[in-house]
Amino acid sequence: MLKCTGHYGTPDRVAADVYIIPFPGDKALFQKTLNQICPGLKALITGLRENGDFSGKADETVALATADGRFILTGLGEADGMGVERVRRAFAQAVKLSNGYVTQAIALYCPLEEIVKKILPVSFEDTVVAMLEGASLALYKYNAFVKVKPDDKKGKAKEFKILTTDEGYQSRLKTAIHEATIIVEAVELARDLSNAPANVMDIDALTKEAVAIGKKFLIKTVVLNKKEIQANKMGGLLAVNQGSSREPRFIVMEYNEKKRRLPPFVLVGKGVTFDSGGLCIKPAASMDEMKMDMSGAAAVLGTMYAVAKLKLPIRVVALIPVTDNMTGGAAYCPGDIITISDGTTVEVKNTDAEGRLILADALVYAQRFKPAAIIDVATLTGAVVVALASHATGMMGNDDDLMADIKEAGNKTFERVWELPMFEEYKKMLKSDVADMSNLGGKWGGAITAAAFLQHFVGDYPWVHLDIAGTAMLESASDYQPKGGTGVGVRLLTAFLRQQEA
Ligand code: BES
Ligand code: MN
Ligand code: ZN
Repeated sequence: MLKCTGHYGTPDRVAADVYIIPFPGDKALFQKTLNQICPGLKALITGLRENGDFSGKADETVALATADGRFILTGLGEADGMGVERVRRAFAQAVKLSNGYVTQAIALYCPLEEIVKKILPVSFEDTVVAMLEGASLALYKYNAFVKVKPDDKKGKAKEFKILTTDEGYQSRLKTAIHEATIIVEAVELARDLSNAPANVMDIDALTKEAVAIGKKFLIKTVVLNKKEIQANKMGGLLAVNQGSSREPRFIVMEYNEKKRRLPPFVLVGKGVTFDSGGLCIKPAASMDEMKMDMSGAAAVLGTMYAVAKLKLPIRVVALIPVTDNMTGGAAYCPGDIITISDGTTVEVKNTDAEGRLILADALVYAQRFKPAAIIDVATLTGAVVVALASHATGMMGNDDDLMADIKEAGNKTFERVWELPMFEEYKKMLKSDVADMSNLGGKWGGAITAAAFLQHFVGDYPWVHLDIAGTAMLESASDYQPKGGTGVGVRLLTAFLRQQEA
């Protein structure tokens, strides 16, 4: 996240390489926005409007280079139910357009409070957070292994300057910038973890990231090694790890650990650092994407970062089973019968259905905290991508209130979720002739049978499963979402947890 400062005043009063000004589609509000702007520019924009070149429509951007500076006009459109997502997109598009010739600062102009109220409608703070989410996350690039020429300074903005002309907003602006900075950093962290290749983000490296976050924010962090995992009889995690040359780990993080009287929210993240499919090996064509099979873990770690840095007054536990799914000589085989830590026996029909096996052990572990709710996040099935593409995370669970809260957080952050049914019949699809359950549900409804498998291990605790296989990584960039890891789940879970405060 770039440095970010708040300012009071019109664009001409604050130095920047480029000024981004959002315009609403509504005629009267467009005019009001225009009235805040210096006279020369005002005439120019009025002309653009009269010629039909810019009218504040959604997805409309115009770049102007004038004697007074460079301006990018970006459209918010009319009130259309998209809400504050329009702000994220408008600023993302504008920033992408501007960044080619920015070397120092990009100024972001807040929409007038009146506009916010009419078309978004959210608080001023939420609007500023959305502006910064859109602007910052649009500039994200996974650069860890790209050599950048030292004289290549273009497109290297160093600062965002947020401008408001609403009076008396300085302190509100400061609060919003503080909050947005934390959220953006947390998403960037999750994206970096997801995007890092498996030879870099291996079991040890992912574990170290968790330990580092724990240290930084004084979150009690314990990592179970293989012996301890064996002592806990985590037969799912151990079986999946058998084909690997690396030892498994089980990460336990407890934020606000001392607040024992508060039942915690337990977040469980799938931490498969690479999923080759095991002996039921995946096709070569897109196997490389499976470096992102720890995106659930990334989402949980990003959320812990945000929760701790925002100092939320709730108790949150993170559980992350970590392994890769490989084909070594000791690899688990189709037909193997394994035993999960609660004693449930599972027939392994397919070694590529590994996520549910390691999550089963984690969900059993979650119950010892007597949680207020358990939420697992996992790139669990290709089937959920078939059902929802990349536009919604699949949501399944056993508690309508909890799911309603997650849905609300999803709409607010635009990390939208969509519920799939959990009828009894799906559970029956997991029957095995030789064990308590099979890890495979048959040809159809794969996202749901995977969830039905998980449900077996949560007891009666309120639980939600989020299948992010479609939303955690994108094949092409759009607005503030880059190609590759999106960091999905961080904003969703952080918003959900904030709703649970007090
Ligand atoms: N990690 C994959 C799911 C996945 C697929 C994530 C595509 C992201 C994009 C998971 O472990 C898996 O392999 N699932 C199998 C389950 C099947 C064998 C029942 C699948 O979806 O094909
Ligand atoms: Mn798999
Ligand atoms: Zn997997």
